[in-house]
Amino acid sequence: MRFLIPLFLAAITSTATRSILAHPTQSDNQNQRRATTCNGHAELCDKSYGNVTFLGTHNSYAVGGEVADNQGWNVTRQLNDGIRLLQVQTHLLNQQINLCHSSCSLQSSGPLSTYLSTLSTWLLANPTEIVTLLITNPDTISPSTFGADFVSAGLDSLAYTPASTAISRDEWPTLGAMIDQGKRLVVFMDYNADFGAVPYIIDEFSNVFEDAYDTTSQDFPCTVNRTSGSPETTLMLTNHYLDYTTTIFGIQVFLSDKSKLTTTNSATGYGSIGQGVTNCVDQWKRNPNFVLVDWYDSNGNTPFDLVASLNGVASPSNTVTTSQFTSGNSTSSSSASGTGTKAASSGTAKATGTATSSSGNVSSSSLSAAPASLRIPAFGTLALTLLGTALGVACVAV
Ligand SMILES: *[C@@H]1O[C@H](CO)[C@@H](O)[C@H](O)[C@H]1NC(C)=O
Ligand SMILES: *[C@@H]1O[C@H](CO)[C@@H](O)[C@H](O)[C@H]1NC(C)=O
Ligand SMILES: *[C@@H]1O[C@H](CO)[C@@H](O)[C@H](O)[C@H]1NC(C)=O
Ligand SMILES: *[C@@H]1O[C@H](CO)[C@@H](O)[C@H](O)[C@H]1NC(C)=O
Ligand SMILES: *[C@@H]1O[C@H](CO)[C@@H](O)[C@H](O)[C@H]1NC(C)=O
Repeated sequence: MRFLIPLFLAAITSTATRSILAHPTQSDNQNQRRATTCNGHAELCDKSYGNVTFLGTHNSYAVGGEVADNQGWNVTRQLNDGIRLLQVQTHLLNQQINLCHSSCSLQSSGPLSTYLSTLSTWLLANPTEIVTLLITNPDTISPSTFGADFVSAGLDSLAYTPASTAISRDEWPTLGAMIDQGKRLVVFMDYNADFGAVPYIIDEFSNVFEDAYDTTSQDFPCTVNRTSGSPETTLMLTNHYLDYTTTIFGIQVFLSDKSKLTTTNSATGYGSIGQGVTNCVDQWKRNPNFVLVDWYDSNGNTPFDLVASLNGVASPSNTVTTSQFTSGNSTSSSSASGTGTKAASSGTAKATGTATSSSGNVSSSSLSAAPASLRIPAFGTLALTLLGTALGVACVAV
């Protein structure tokens, strides 16, 4: 008889709990909030996703020292260092979605599915973190093809689904609510999203506007460049990476300007992240939501400290160290394969003998002035591939 009472109480308790979970009201949700730390800070739990700034990596998968690479550390390290927006560019190769920069013959980092499973592992190991994935889809691959890769990585259930194809900046939930609901991955796609087919692959330009990308000017004015909504009510992404251009067989190619990298990723002064963000705030009267950079590790903690200050939280305590690929030149480096992030590297994009300064920086001026010094083995293959993309401008650094 004695143990029937606890059983009875347990039954009542579990029924009550279930009914609250099944029929949450606004106040129940408030009472049930569990997350006490959100993206590393208690203060961020009550902030809406639309009110937070996230630091992001442009071509997050393109890790190494080859000409079309943009990052020095792999994605797991990027996330451990505090990167919370990952941008990827996808291409269809042998019926499979691959991560390639511009063309898979130029730069290839293997299947999206491998990348997504790395991301999934990290998210599961870090249950109070929210990460955004921005997919650049130049081949206009269908969202359902992407969906299959998300399902197999277990990311479909972690992905946030908005109420409709476009929501305004103030409709985004708080980080705390997203963490409590287990919806910790936000996925945007630039072109070809389809809310009816895969609702968690969110149309970027109805929800986010971008300023210019692949810019070769250090002005970073933060004026609107791509949007299909209203910049006043959508999220804001600023592309804060600097390119230089060179011409290969009449094709204009954009490459990361490493010679100015430490300026581009610094806190203050002309061309810096700090100045770029100030330009955004002056123009739009609010902080950008996403700051996308190349070689995020070039300036230690500087970009992370800056974003922390935008969010009104303490600087992170970890120390970001600079990868050899970031500090080194953009030439060669078969050692890139040593990072384990490369797959199916065709080897066609290895430029050797590029002019470098004594510091190991690529000298952009000598590259532009003498493109012949950009010696790429299997150069003909590269040029044909670039031509084969049928793009008037092959944006290597998009
Ligand atoms: C978001 O920011 C706006 C403007 O500063 C503010 O009015 C609003 O209360 C904030 N909401 C949340 C949930 O962070
Ligand atoms: C957007 O940026 C691209 C590349 O930087 C530039 O060529 C284009 O003119 C810009 N378009 C607008 C509308 O600002
Ligand atoms: C690259 O060159 C710039 C000057 O253009 C310099 O400030 C920077 O320290 C150099 N970077 C490295 C890694 O040597
Ligand atoms: C730059 O490239 C040259 C070969 O072109 C190589 O010998 C040198 O070690 C590289 N420098 C750095 C810092 O990686
Ligand atoms: C990512 O880089 C870290 C070191 O920065 C390394 O320990 C880890 O094995 C790498 N992961 C993969 C999948 O290559």
